[in-house]
Amino acid sequence: MQNIEDYISDNRERFLKELIELLRIPSISADSAFSQDVLDTADAVKSALEEAGCDLVEIHETDGYPIVYGEKIIDPNLPTILVYGHYDVQPPDPVELWESPPFEPVIKETAIHPQGAIFARGACDDKGQMYMHVKALEFMVKTDQLPCNVKFMIEGEEEVGSNNLATYVSLNKEKLKNDIILISDTGMIANDVPSITTGLRGLSYVEVEVTGPNRDLHSGLYGGAVANPINILAKMIASLHDENNHITIPGFYDKVEELSQEERAEMAKAPFSLENYQKALDIETVYGEKGYSTNERNSIRPTLDVNGIWGGYTGEGAKTVIASKAYAKISMRLVPHQDWQEITELFQKHFEAIAPKGVKVKVTPHHGGQGYVTPIDTIAYQAASKAYETTFGKKPIPQRSGGSIPIVSLFEKELGSKTILMGFGLDSDAIHSPNEHFGVWNYLKGIETIPHFYEYFTEMKKA
Ligand code: BES
Ligand code: MN
Ligand code: MN
Repeated sequence: MQNIEDYISDNRERFLKELIELLRIPSISADSAFSQDVLDTADAVKSALEEAGCDLVEIHETDGYPIVYGEKIIDPNLPTILVYGHYDVQPPDPVELWESPPFEPVIKETAIHPQGAIFARGACDDKGQMYMHVKALEFMVKTDQLPCNVKFMIEGEEEVGSNNLATYVSLNKEKLKNDIILISDTGMIANDVPSITTGLRGLSYVEVEVTGPNRDLHSGLYGGAVANPINILAKMIASLHDENNHITIPGFYDKVEELSQEERAEMAKAPFSLENYQKALDIETVYGEKGYSTNERNSIRPTLDVNGIWGGYTGEGAKTVIASKAYAKISMRLVPHQDWQEITELFQKHFEAIAPKGVKVKVTPHHGGQGYVTPIDTIAYQAASKAYETTFGKKPIPQRSGGSIPIVSLFEKELGSKTILMGFGLDSDAIHSPNEHFGVWNYLKGIETIPHFYEYFTEMKKA
């Protein structure tokens, strides 16, 4: 029987070509100008699942973009793995900073990816990682080595909050029934330091609007005499962190999980070079909450960040004006036990409370979700760990990530299922940024590792 390594070397070029074709479709869920492309991508995923050997593939319509559902049930008595991924991508902006067009994939070598990396929006997040699962399935089906049942649920609205997926999941509990959910939509420490993501942060995303005078004013005639909403907004935002970079919203930290010294010591063992980190970002020093390391700041600690701020005149040249309105988009990354709706309310109350007289403030919640922690004392984690050990020759390190996939906690709530986060991307792959890429080695390593998870999970489940 053919093994996965040989299968990959026989099919390497095709695996790359197929992914490149998928990456050519600009499935930007946030921008309605691309809605046909998003729909076309769903069709492409459907065909790919059919060709890989699913017995049933359906496009499930929602109030937004469709969900591609596929399955291959070989024996109802065997365990079932549910694979989740997303076929939508982030907008590529700013496009001028891309070295090659975002939807014209090219393979280029980089220092970290000597075997080349595929440069395209979605290469790593998440088309490339999702497609590893399709190719792993193809291998298992074509070589008659699929050890258990598999279901696929690939959505097209992850990058805009997965609103319709939540409804879909609650309406299709029976159909989606599974023993474990498997997701590749995160990263790992380095190609020679495999890790499995054991935590995701929650998220609360809000937009704020500060209104001063009822119209834009001449900044000479009125300047100094009325509240300038942009000045005020900047002040309000600045006050959200204190001198130790703690967030000042009352109650914000009340439910934050405090890790024990032992847990923090364990975390600190993960290899990390502050020097390389700073060098890669061209910053003189890192910056953040007092009392915590960089790896703690971006995983086990909550944050508040302005993602965008605007108002007034930003065109060419100068215009002397006091704007009527100023805006900002703000995200808060949350950690276990913080409830995103509660935090959203705390933010809203606080932001309204700190607004000085002379301006009006409006806070509009955007979307959010709970964080997630993967238990490691489970069959699923052990099977994943063993799969990595087999293909990387090293035991993977459990590591919490700073990113969010809000739907994961919802899966647990609605389906009662745990999730294994097998990410093969690297932080340096520039997801959501210009020049996103995914290592060819990582792509193929993912395809190689996944079937071992199926094998070990099924074995351990039976035992
Ligand atoms: N795949 C990412 C999340 C991610 C990336 C988690 C790397 C861990 C490591 C996902 O597509 C994403 O971008 N999520 C958003 C939240 C979503 C609600 C828009 C995020 O984390 O900003
Ligand atoms: Mn993603
Ligand atoms: Mn993303």
